[in-house]
Amino acid sequence: MSNSVFIRTIRGERCERPPVWFMRQAGRVLPSYLSLREKYSFRDLMHNPELTAKVTLLPVQDLGVDAAILFSDILVIPEALGMELNFTDKGPVFDAPIKNQSAYISRLQGDTSKLSHIYKAIDLIKVQKPEDCALIGFCGSPFTTLCYMVQGSSANHFFPDAIKLIYSHRQQTSHLLELITELSIEYAVNQVKHGIDAFQLFETHAGLLPYELYVELVLPYVKRITSAVRDAGCPVIFFPKGLGAGLKQIHYDVADYISVDWQDSMEEARRTVDPRIGLQGNFDPRIFSIDNPNILISELEKYKAFGRNNFNWIFNTGHGLSPDNLFHNVRRTVDWIKTTDWQR
Ligand code: CP3
Repeated sequence: MSNSVFIRTIRGERCERPPVWFMRQAGRVLPSYLSLREKYSFRDLMHNPELTAKVTLLPVQDLGVDAAILFSDILVIPEALGMELNFTDKGPVFDAPIKNQSAYISRLQGDTSKLSHIYKAIDLIKVQKPEDCALIGFCGSPFTTLCYMVQGSSANHFFPDAIKLIYSHRQQTSHLLELITELSIEYAVNQVKHGIDAFQLFETHAGLLPYELYVELVLPYVKRITSAVRDAGCPVIFFPKGLGAGLKQIHYDVADYISVDWQDSMEEARRTVDPRIGLQGNFDPRIFSIDNPNILISELEKYKAFGRNNFNWIFNTGHGLSPDNLFHNVRRTVDWIKTTDWQR
């Protein structure tokens, strides 16, 4: 068996402590990342496999996390479908968002050669990473990806044009979800073939839909991607942010682990979700912006009882780290997880 506490836990072994990693751990809070960004654009870092491998492994060296997540972005899928994308100071912006043009949708076509640099990066990371560190691959769920493709940017957090399309043009919506799903399956399975240890599906905007509509319209596409990854032998973590009461609709046929957001309660999620599904989460990342170690530690202590009683739990934040989070708080959190006596 592996000597990685992350791999052992996600594969169902009882470990002495929970594994720890963070969403958005590679960019944003690391001084080493920020200094690389003075020299290279985000696109340079994503497109040069050597640089991608280096950035992927920075949080392992600088924070001591148990897993690295591939340094890339969910929006590589719309790019590979033929959409022009810019990463600006205000986030990603598409040159020509889809809005509701069906002619545009029918022109989209997957070009898998646009993803090959990512597989090269995985090969390099596999060689360079420490043995006890796991590598997590990922992609976006078709719905979250569609939100960006239709809206064109994240300037409006409610993605109103995407929601309008979903309610009023169901056939276009399904066509788009289908295109994204097909390419995502190929992309995800290729990541597994190149040796990722786990796969996370990001559904950052699950909370934008009524959960019944989410379950009816989106979940079947999610299941197609997660089933393909699991069939290829790789465990899957699903992060449906904001799904709330809809969590009870996520069954074991969807994922091995569910990542719980910071608005939910771990205890409540544990009572609701199928016991075969492990949980990840859900520390509020905003606490990392407060420069007071007592607050940090007392908030962490709240996870002690949960972690003693639950072996299928991966510590993570309830959403990604942000640039105002303090590096020393994030590092102290990793140390706290590793040095706490979990009495397991
Ligand atoms: O640690 C990591 O950052 C791992 C790699 C990673 C990135 N994006 C790099 C990135 C991952 C896993 C993502 C996923 C992603 N991208 C999601 C889902 C998860 C989430 O955070 O909600 C979404 C919605 C996107 C789309 C996206 N990309 C947005 C909205 C933004 C701007 C805001 C932000 O998160 O910083 C990006 C840009 C982006 N993606 C950056 C990084 C490191 C910032 C680039 C920079 O350095 O300027």
